[in-house]
Amino acid sequence: MTGTAANRAGAETPAMTEQTDSHAIRMPAYVDHAHLVVRDLSMVSSWYQSVMGLTPIEKTASGEVLGVAGRPLLTLTTQGNTEVAPRNAPGLFHTAFLVPDRLALGRWLAHVADNNVPLQGASDHLVSEAIYIGDPEGNGIEVYRDRPRAEWDYADNGMVKMATLRLDLQALYDEAPKGGWDGMADGTAIGHVHLQVSDIPEADAFFRDVLGLDLMATYPGASFFASGKYHHHIAANIWNSRGAAKRQANMTGLADYTVHFNDTAKLQSAIARLDALEIPVTRNGETVSLIDPWGIGLKLSA
Ligand SMILES: [Fe+2]
Repeated sequence: MTGTAANRAGAETPAMTEQTDSHAIRMPAYVDHAHLVVRDLSMVSSWYQSVMGLTPIEKTASGEVLGVAGRPLLTLTTQGNTEVAPRNAPGLFHTAFLVPDRLALGRWLAHVADNNVPLQGASDHLVSEAIYIGDPEGNGIEVYRDRPRAEWDYADNGMVKMATLRLDLQALYDEAPKGGWDGMADGTAIGHVHLQVSDIPEADAFFRDVLGLDLMATYPGASFFASGKYHHHIAANIWNSRGAAKRQANMTGLADYTVHFNDTAKLQSAIARLDALEIPVTRNGETVSLIDPWGIGLKLSA
């Protein structure tokens, strides 16, 4: 029994009664931004511009900020003592860029296919259609579109049904208009980040019990967390990183990411739980920064 997915999602999420759009960033909390430490800043930045269609928004002392249609999504920085993270280090599994619709996904697929960018995979996850690639320094990337939320199926326990099925890339490619690609579609956001952590029960305790996200799905060695009954804003797996030592600040890869709270009460509750657990945080205006249990930086903003 699954009930009516749309009704169930709406009943549990006040925002959804006003907003029928399932877009990830309209949820009570969502991933706003990711920050990667890289070795070759200019090369990696050029790659994100040409392959991912991001545009430079701001230069900083140690790097630059890239985004879509003026919306900052990705900060790249480098530093003198940067070391390549071992494959099993906690950090990034992938940053997932959510495009507005299937046509936008097809347009990007045609762009990378026509430029011979190798794909790492492609899947139909029932809730979404996703294509995977890697950046030149090995940071994982997903580009995906969501199916309409009314088509998502929720179990009686509130979890969302996802799977990993074959995605028909040829059909997606054939549907897309060819040529004239001029960057990632307006409205593209970071739909989720997928992390490598060292322990799943520890991830459940942190993302569900401390940050206050809902556990939306589990998979062998992975948990998926979200607000607003989105399929996931954050995923964590141990597929490469079971029992690994903490990430070090000078390692390449995901230095930090930002979770933005549209629902400020949820943010205050999360901060209160961090304080109660004596997890050190740094306050800077509306933003609270911390290092998670695996050494990954996390900013919580309102
Ligand atoms: Fe993902």
